Amino acid sequence: MKIKLLIMIMIVLTLGLTACGNGNENGSHKQNEPQTTAVNADPQKVYKNFCISCHGNQLQGGEGPNIQKVGERLTEAEIVKRIQKGGGGMPPFQVALKEEELKALAAWLADLK
Ligand code: HEC
Repeated sequence: MKIKLLIMIMIVLTLGLTACGNGNENGSHKQNEPQTTAVNADPQKVYKNFCISCHGNQLQGGEGPNIQKVGERLTEAEIVKRIQKGGGGMPPFQVALKEEELKALAAWLADLK
């Protein structure tokens, strides 16, 4: 029993130390390294990766419609749904995009008026 307890304590300590170590590392490298988390997803980068082929480099359209002023037509929630589900010739991106990327993208597009 005692040994088990000791092992448990060591595991907890190790986890704690690991978490701290990672935190410090992130802090000290922040300025040099690109962020690996998508919390601050850059919507224009996501757009370039996934949307530009159909909606154009100026959002002017092509295979897909012009979405330069899509915020006038659709709400952010509608844009989220459209990106997730696709439809009408547009593929769904529910799986391809991280939630942060999807949100950033929809918020950016909804602001275009
Ligand atoms: C394979 C081509 C293709 C790709 C890639 C694509 N779209 Fe589309 N998109 C379309 C087409 C075609 C439509 C029009 C569908 C319709 O008529 O209902 C459309 C419609 C839309 C609309 C609705 C426009 C409106 O005025 O109703 C939005 C918003 C949109 N796309 C955003 C995106 C975003 C954001 C991406 C990238 C994540 C993307 N699309 C990628 C082809 C594409």
